[in-house]
Amino acid sequence: MKINYQETTSDLQTRIDIHNKFGGRNIDEWMLDLLKPQKGISILDVACGSGKQCFSFHKYCEGDVRITGGDVNPDLLSQAREQNAKIGSPVTFMDLNFNVHFPLQDNTFDLASCCFAIYYAEDIPFTISEIHRVIKPGGRLFTTGPMPDNKKLFYDIIREATGKTIPPMPGSSRYSTQIFDAVKGLFTSTQMHIFLNPLTFETVEPFVDYTRASLAEDRKLWSSFFQDKDDFERIMEKINETAKRWIDRDGKLVMTKVVGGILATK
Ligand SMILES: C[S@@+](CC[C@H](N)C(=O)[O-])C[C@H]1O[C@@H](n2cnc3c(N)ncnc32)[C@H](O)[C@@H]1O
Repeated sequence: MKINYQETTSDLQTRIDIHNKFGGRNIDEWMLDLLKPQKGISILDVACGSGKQCFSFHKYCEGDVRITGGDVNPDLLSQAREQNAKIGSPVTFMDLNFNVHFPLQDNTFDLASCCFAIYYAEDIPFTISEIHRVIKPGGRLFTTGPMPDNKKLFYDIIREATGKTIPPMPGSSRYSTQIFDAVKGLFTSTQMHIFLNPLTFETVEPFVDYTRASLAEDRKLWSSFFQDKDDFERIMEKINETAKRWIDRDGKLVMTKVVGGILATK
């Protein structure tokens, strides 16, 4: 599956900020509690973006850990490097395109993570096999991705506002089935863990900002929704009106993130 996907730095950051501000729970705490990474291990974070999980692992292990973060997006990598420099550059950041052979040795890492990204791979079994290759025997893989009922309210509002069919999302349409099965086929043991995070909006603005950052034109996933740039603004206005109506009716909007964490051992 070829997915023409390029996350812009500001769209990703907007959504991360909104999760942090309006979500009741912290996904990194959940991840760390689940994985309990031990001091002294080596970790690879595939599709690390601006380094969110790398810095969480570093903090949790109190600096006693070797972390490599790889991503294909130079803007996100430079943000990661900037943040890394502020804390003495403990993390190694590298260019890593998960659609091609990783420039990394076999059996190198105790833990590999890949958060909110694996479903953008052109050939998921290939990317999973590359991750599997670089994990040590007995080492672990942790990936996160959206489950089918993720953000139901978000899609319901867009559907009601536009009357259009929501395009199949590369994550939620496949994460708990195809992607889980691909991991299970390669690893010795594989489990699915679920994280629920309700985001509560008492005003319409942050919900609309979140929606804008998800539907932004340069995020190719939604291109079937828009004919031109004005169309984007017209649709955002309709979403704004519908979301306002829902807040007037219900007093708030509660959009629940339903995330699957696949934890597998090689
Ligand atoms: C939603 S972001 C998640 C970033 C980070 N893991 C986090 O949770 O904050 C998806 C990431 O996948 C990366 N990505 C997309 N295609 C990629 C590829 N071919 N190789 C490596 N990374 C890729 C993007 O650059 C982006 O950083």
